[in-house]
Amino acid sequence: MAELDLLEIQTIDNAPSVQTGKRVYIETYGCQMNVSDTELMMGVLIEAGYVHTSRPDDADVVLLNTCAIREKAEDRIVGRLSQLSHLKMSSPNLLLGISGCMAKHLAEKLLDQMPYVDLVIGPDSYRRLPALIAEAQDEPAMDVRLDREEGYLNLDPKRGEGTNAWITVMRGCDKFCTFCIVPYVRGRERSVSADEILRQVDVAASEGYKEITFLGQTVNSYKDGTNDFADLLKRAAQVSGIQRIRFTSPHPSDFTEKLIDTMVQESKICRFVHLPVQSGSNSILREMKRTYTIEEYLALVDCLRQRLPGVCLSTDIIVGFPGETEADYESTLGLMEDVRFDSAFMFKYSPREGTVSYRQMADTVGETEKGRRLQAVIDQQIRISSEINRTYIGKTLEILVGGDSRKGGGQAVGKSDGFKTVVFPKEAVETNSFVDVKISSSTSHTLTGHLAGVSLNQGSTR
Ligand code: SAH
Ligand code: SF4
Ligand code: F3S
Repeated sequence: MAELDLLEIQTIDNAPSVQTGKRVYIETYGCQMNVSDTELMMGVLIEAGYVHTSRPDDADVVLLNTCAIREKAEDRIVGRLSQLSHLKMSSPNLLLGISGCMAKHLAEKLLDQMPYVDLVIGPDSYRRLPALIAEAQDEPAMDVRLDREEGYLNLDPKRGEGTNAWITVMRGCDKFCTFCIVPYVRGRERSVSADEILRQVDVAASEGYKEITFLGQTVNSYKDGTNDFADLLKRAAQVSGIQRIRFTSPHPSDFTEKLIDTMVQESKICRFVHLPVQSGSNSILREMKRTYTIEEYLALVDCLRQRLPGVCLSTDIIVGFPGETEADYESTLGLMEDVRFDSAFMFKYSPREGTVSYRQMADTVGETEKGRRLQAVIDQQIRISSEINRTYIGKTLEILVGGDSRKGGGQAVGKSDGFKTVVFPKEAVETNSFVDVKISSSTSHTLTGHLAGVSLNQGSTR
């Protein structure tokens, strides 16, 4: 899953205007699954009589839904917590809580080291949120147990802003890549039944969403005993009202022929695949326990490109994994040049306590060298993304209008089927509608264009 390295603040602005209950504010860090979990928590709390606020200084309960994937992610949250603790001076009854992966990772250490923290709640305990908040009124409360059975069935999220509905189809991870903390903080892999997921897709469609994204740490490992991931996509594609289906993140080793066949057959499934590769060196992939070779990865990319012409690809890259030599790292640069990903998330290896690489492999690449390698992969990716994006100039893309562009200036922003960010003059376009945009300029991140028409849509123009 593409981890959003930037601080992601979730705001849900359609809270009831009459605020009768306690007000809750949630800030979200980490990947899309945390965004989805924040919506789930907000659903649980609203059901229990809470109301949402978009300001921490206006809240009775402040929750940080946290990430533990790299040390930097945790450091940033520690800083934010200490900043928010000052709110307690003016609001002594304010409850400050930590949920998500860092809550599970650090557990009692958080309560020991940060006396202003009232609540620590792990990713499998969100049903108990109202009860734990009640407990925390008297003394600090903690529940970080992992629960193999918890799939959050029959709970409906309170969705945030945006035109995409996140739907978590599987939780946890059984892959145990040696660098990764996710299996330890999210627990074992488990899939939600397809019937429940279809119920959730129906709810999203009835709320007016035209796009859904299925989420899972290895989303294509999905299996509920009857349906595999391809079956699930096929069923979701039958839901009327839903016009675009995305998913993230698939694991390269579980990308079956059947899944590719289904993507070919179902035009609602977007021609975009986030396919984390991590490294371009077979020996590093082996040490990472990624379970595929570069040759297998490249064969999959070829197959995707052949069967799904125009498919856009993104990836995750780690530089400076233990033992990564100059030659290994150059293989990563070489692989990126061979595949030419549309975009990439690139990270310096960060040793995570509890993982196999932390316990058994020396962190051999120094910080400065990691920085140099990271900068080089980023520079190369920016060049490749710019070159690819330039080829879109003169083409017309169907865009789902997301809202106003952050740049302002009367510009709207939306996404193409291939997940390109496209900016265009707002004119009379409505959020959550499809428009055709003719591209006139590009950067490594964004395509810019003008309206070529209101799309007849149904996701047919790619
Ligand atoms: N299951 C998801 C992974 C989510 S974590 C997937 O396979 O896409 C997102 C990314 O963070 C990973 O793909 C990896 O590139 C990066 N990452 C995970 N652990 C890391 C670590 N210890 N140091 C640096 N990057 C890491
Ligand atoms: Fe982590 Fe690997 Fe699982 Fe992804 S597949 S969550 S990188 S252990
Ligand atoms: Fe996601 Fe970070 Fe947890 S990437 S699964 S929020 S450790």
